[in-house]
Amino acid sequence: MRIRKAAERDLPAVVELYRTFGDAKVLSPAAAARIFRRMRRYPDFTLYVSVDEGRIVGTFALLIMDNLAHMGARSAVVEDVAVEPSLQGRGIGRAMMEFARRRARAAGCYKLALSSALKRKAAHRFYEALGFSRHGYSFLVQP
Ligand SMILES: CC(C)(COP(=O)(O)OP(=O)(O)OC[C@H]1O[C@@H](n2cnc3c(N)ncnc32)[C@H](O)[C@@H]1OP(=O)(O)O)[C@@H](O)C(=O)NCCC(=O)NCCS
Repeated sequence: MRIRKAAERDLPAVVELYRTFGDAKVLSPAAAARIFRRMRRYPDFTLYVSVDEGRIVGTFALLIMDNLAHMGARSAVVEDVAVEPSLQGRGIGRAMMEFARRRARAAGCYKLALSSALKRKAAHRFYEALGFSRHGYSFLVQP
């Protein structure tokens, strides 16, 4: 298994993985491609895929951002982590988060953060097994 940056041709398989979040509907290939092209205009926002024998088995996105606080140290945010259901529990998620951590460390980030809905208890156990700790609360509102 290897982890690499996603290409546009990977998007249909990537959006299928988002069904693991409980999403009944996923983006069409054309809509996904449009958004992916916009994501690529960000200075450091990358969609990654985990590939096993040519098959996409996992994905996550990693944003590395600049900050004026913290003496200008950068920070990283992980989003949209998903592993193909039949292959969960085999270390793919761990490999992806270790990759994200190395990438954030190499970019000089002082933290790597993510948020996970309260109901996703299994995901919380996963992140804690990887050394993430609970820190503060995440707030959201419909804009
Ligand atoms: C959460 C998810 C990404 C984990 O990926 P994975 O490949 O199954 O996880 P791994 O096999 O790499 O597990 C890594 C560690 O986390 C622990 N872990 C993973 N899933 C767990 C679960 N459901 N319950 C308890 N521990 C769990 C494992 O024990 C493992 O520890 P170990 O290596 O010491 O044995 C994957 O299950 C998934 O896609 N879930 C659905 C989507 C989702 O919830 N995404 C996160 C949204 S915030």
